[in-house]
Amino acid sequence: WPGAPRPDPAALRRLVDLDKGRIDRRVYWDETIYRMELERIFARTWLFVAHESQVAKPDDFLTTYMGEDGVIVARGQDGRISVFLNSCTHRGNKISLAEVGNRRRFTCNYHGWTFDTQGALVGLPHEDIYKATCPDFDKAALGIHRARVESYKGLVFATFNDEAPGLEQFLGDYRWYLDVLLDNDEGGTEFLPGNIKSRMQCNWKFPAENFAGDSYHAAWTHNSGAMAMLGTGVGKSNQERSYQVNVNGHGWQFGLDMVGNAMVLGEPEIVQYLREREARVAERLGKLRSRMVGAISSANLFPHTSFLPGQNTFRTWHPKGPSAIELHTWVLVNKSAPQSIKDKYMKGVMRTFSPSGTLEMDDGDNWENATQTNQGVVTRAQKLHYGLGMDSAIAHEELKGAVHLRKYNDTNQRAFFRRWLDLMCQEID
Ligand code: FES
Ligand code: FE
Repeated sequence: WPGAPRPDPAALRRLVDLDKGRIDRRVYWDETIYRMELERIFARTWLFVAHESQVAKPDDFLTTYMGEDGVIVARGQDGRISVFLNSCTHRGNKISLAEVGNRRRFTCNYHGWTFDTQGALVGLPHEDIYKATCPDFDKAALGIHRARVESYKGLVFATFNDEAPGLEQFLGDYRWYLDVLLDNDEGGTEFLPGNIKSRMQCNWKFPAENFAGDSYHAAWTHNSGAMAMLGTGVGKSNQERSYQVNVNGHGWQFGLDMVGNAMVLGEPEIVQYLREREARVAERLGKLRSRMVGAISSANLFPHTSFLPGQNTFRTWHPKGPSAIELHTWVLVNKSAPQSIKDKYMKGVMRTFSPSGTLEMDDGDNWENATQTNQGVVTRAQKLHYGLGMDSAIAHEELKGAVHLRKYNDTNQRAFFRRWLDLMCQEID
């Protein structure tokens, strides 16, 4: 099957000129580019699918997406986590309509084929008739297509690409930064119960690149919301003590002078909790990274998983067409944190980064408007500017990956698009 015509790599590279910091608006709305993203990025790279705490017990499961493909993440009786398509091998119906639960079997609503927590077909009505009348009937071959699964410190990733290098290579030195979030306490982390799902009419890359490095918008977009909700404005950050770092397209921007800042969700108890733990964290992660714990910052794990270290919202931007996303949001905390602190994080995240949260509404408005205006027939011919911080690369004794000084910077967004281009231009069958 020949498939739709594809732009050649040279044409794609003309759209995204990273040397000049100019990006063609087409990447935010074009249907062909979007279809290529699903095939070349979402179907071929590692994707975050769950936190282990969401499927803590045998037979726990949840449903989510890898690109637009629905999948089930399930823990088996042996404790191992499997990820497989949420689509019956008979006629393709969903085998789980539930979004979360605990069950040993998934029985399809249509004709009753039944699968286990690894996607194997374990039963079907009138199996004797199949055996008698269907010469090539092979029950073992009718299991559901499974993804490769690997975990890093509680985060479960999956990919449908058999040839993709392992998760360790995918994350690379980004693990050193992830440990700030995932390993600042010996007890590890968990997601608080509940998964908030909402829709936005924007291209998935706007939120992803925004969280990867767009600190520049925060003091402008969020100042009034922060004052109303948190009692203090966003304030200026010391540019000479702040950084953008990136590894393999994963980005993290942070300042080192913002630890325990009153902006930590406007909750003095959280600030106190962070301060009390600072020395212990320094022993565990070193002084520099201990200053990143609780510092207001933002990060995106390529392609579509974002989090705000310090504010502890964790989210995925699932693509739903070129101009729409389904946002899944959780609250990530240290397992050992007192319940009162977990409650404060939950309340703080709901007030700021939930569908009714002030700061999320600020962002959503910008992303939806930018997605929509970029489609205008005259507007679309004008390139977008991604040129901030072209000369900001520095050598740093401790920080890993590509390090750039000053968090008012477009470096991480360019790194995001560099990775995007590499994957979009790859040869695939
Ligand atoms: Fe699932 Fe027929 S579609 S049993
Ligand atoms: Fe924002």
